[in-house]
Amino acid sequence: MELYLDTANLEEIREIAAWGVLSGVTTNPTLLAKAFLDRGLRPTEEDLRAHLRAICEAVGGPVSAEVTALEAPLMVEEGRRLASIHPQIVVKLPTTEEGLKACKALSSEGIRVNMTLIFSANQALLAARAGAAYVSPFLGRVDDISWDGGELLREIVEMIAVQDLPVKVIAASIRHPRHVTEAALMGADIATLPHAVFKALLKHPLTDIGLKRFTEDWEKVKP
Ligand code: E4P
Repeated sequence: MELYLDTANLEEIREIAAWGVLSGVTTNPTLLAKAFLDRGLRPTEEDLRAHLRAICEAVGGPVSAEVTALEAPLMVEEGRRLASIHPQIVVKLPTTEEGLKACKALSSEGIRVNMTLIFSANQALLAARAGAAYVSPFLGRVDDISWDGGELLREIVEMIAVQDLPVKVIAASIRHPRHVTEAALMGADIATLPHAVFKALLKHPLTDIGLKRFTEDWEKVKP
């Protein structure tokens, strides 16, 4: 399973990319707004394009950028503009009627699409039939309403395998490290993680204690 960062924050992306384990990035309008608002900035169209270009250069893998239009013709125009920023851009579309129409049009032009806000296996099936390259079921938001995000992911992964559909599953809305383990065991192609969850994957108190002891013991005899 590949690991993506779910952020538009360049420092976070550069930090995790330096570990050598980062395969891609997903953004959404909320994350992009946060990246600018945190610095007290209101971006122009060119600022936004430059920011997405910098993310592509930092990660060297697919970078999902989401349209904000709600009607198919406008989604297609916006999707084309986003795709023109960098060859690594994947256009993210909401899983709605308009999103499906736009997905069909953009994928027919060879533009890769990530269908987002997926909360059922049937939505994933429709997205795949419309030519999506990726589907993004939101585990955490399903768990938040006391349903089973893991079960949603299991169904989608199984359905795509049984039907032999040419689409990758991105486990999204990840809340904690256990979600990552579960997604990997279920066979998700990708999990997209917030920065804090990425850091938490690595942390274990016994690793810290063990390293401290190795270092102290070696200090006693070190030549
Ligand atoms: C997916 O690509 C979305 O950006 C993201 O995972 C949403 O997660 P949230 O529920 O933490 O907002």
